[in-house]
Amino acid sequence: MTVSVNELAGSLPANFVLGAATSAYQIEGATKADGRGPSIWDKFLADPTMPHTQATGEIACDHYNLYKQDVALLKELNLHAYRFSIAWPRVFPQGSGKLNIKGLAFYDRLVDELLAQGITPYATLYHWDLPLALQDKFGGWLSRNTCDAFAAYCRKVVNKLGDRVKHWTTFNEPEVIVAGYAGNGLAPGYNKPGIQFHVGHNLMVAHGLATKAIRSAKSDVQVGIVLNYNNIDPVDRSLAAATAAHSRFSAAYNWYLQGLLQGSYPDFVENKLQEPLNGTSHWFKESDRSLISQPLDYLGINYYTRFVVDAEGRDIPSEKEPQTQMGWRIDPFGLARLLERLNREFKLPPLYITENGAALNDSVVDGKIHDRKRTCFIADHLTAIAAVSRLAKVDVRGYFAWSLMDNLEWPLGYAKTFGLVHVDRTNDLKRTVKDSGHFYAQLAQALKSRSS
Ligand code: FCB
Repeated sequence: MTVSVNELAGSLPANFVLGAATSAYQIEGATKADGRGPSIWDKFLADPTMPHTQATGEIACDHYNLYKQDVALLKELNLHAYRFSIAWPRVFPQGSGKLNIKGLAFYDRLVDELLAQGITPYATLYHWDLPLALQDKFGGWLSRNTCDAFAAYCRKVVNKLGDRVKHWTTFNEPEVIVAGYAGNGLAPGYNKPGIQFHVGHNLMVAHGLATKAIRSAKSDVQVGIVLNYNNIDPVDRSLAAATAAHSRFSAAYNWYLQGLLQGSYPDFVENKLQEPLNGTSHWFKESDRSLISQPLDYLGINYYTRFVVDAEGRDIPSEKEPQTQMGWRIDPFGLARLLERLNREFKLPPLYITENGAALNDSVVDGKIHDRKRTCFIADHLTAIAAVSRLAKVDVRGYFAWSLMDNLEWPLGYAKTFGLVHVDRTNDLKRTVKDSGHFYAQLAQALKSRSS
């Protein structure tokens, strides 16, 4: 397949934003620099009793020190925008209380550098790296004290950077944050199945409080949230499998969106929230309805794959379908199907695809990185976006490739490579743009030329 850059650029909506995404813990390293406090991920990845590799974020891609070089890469890729996250433990090492001016100053420098290179910053305030002190003191997201601390942190950051950063995301992927409480595979590894709705509701409360705090700090900024979504399909045509797929989709993903847009949850969630937890009997308050459904300026969607389930809702692994290093099925038109469905079920705000990408084995030949499958992956997903924008009038404003560079894939370490840019861990973290990055740069340029 030859991907025609101009044809693809021409098919996307006007003023379409093309960018790349990262998150603080996955790239920054320097976990002890300039007064940063520990996060739940520092502790989790160093804990030998947890089920994961021993890779940590201590060095990661050393972006904390190499950020100028990385912004130069964004520029070399002609990207319009960069989605990054702010590490709460750098700004408030204890989660609340004393502000760490040096930690916040890093993001000040990063934002200035991005703007100097003509790249629009899209900042995420929480991409999973909770200050450990809040976990130890309050049980993290099991407590509304953490929600209050989050809103205070957001207000401080937006006060400082909101004159230059106009797009603010509160949370990245509540569903995955919740998984760190209901199971033991992600930080904090709390492992109490059955509490996902309680934790998830607290995240919605924190989102509401933070949205209000952000808007009161700066009135001319846009505020959104990022939800992860995958399709969940039945393995066969039986009613039982279809029902199981539908239930899983609602319980994993869709209830957040209903809460955010309508201030209500499906009955099975609201009933569950009546059950007391940790001595709190009124987990859900009526006044939460308006709090969690603050108007959203945009919704970010992270899309990677589709799951297939049997009549009991169990995952059926992919056998014949193309898949990535993660074992995730590659299903570009699933993205169109998903967006069309959400648009039909809800009155959606403008959308960004805030993450999409593939971990693949790249082949390095004479210092060049050949990753044709990644180029096709990205092009096919963008084609799906073009189609659904045109045919179903879904308002998609932009796309951020995951990820700018190969980085720490959480408990899976550094072997899962998602980057447009290769990071050589055996050679001083040397960055090399992959073939997919060159393709992406041409596309970004074509989109720029079209709108100028
Ligand atoms: C998403 C995360 C991101 C990255 C990708 C592969 O769930 O938001 O940090 O790990 O998966």
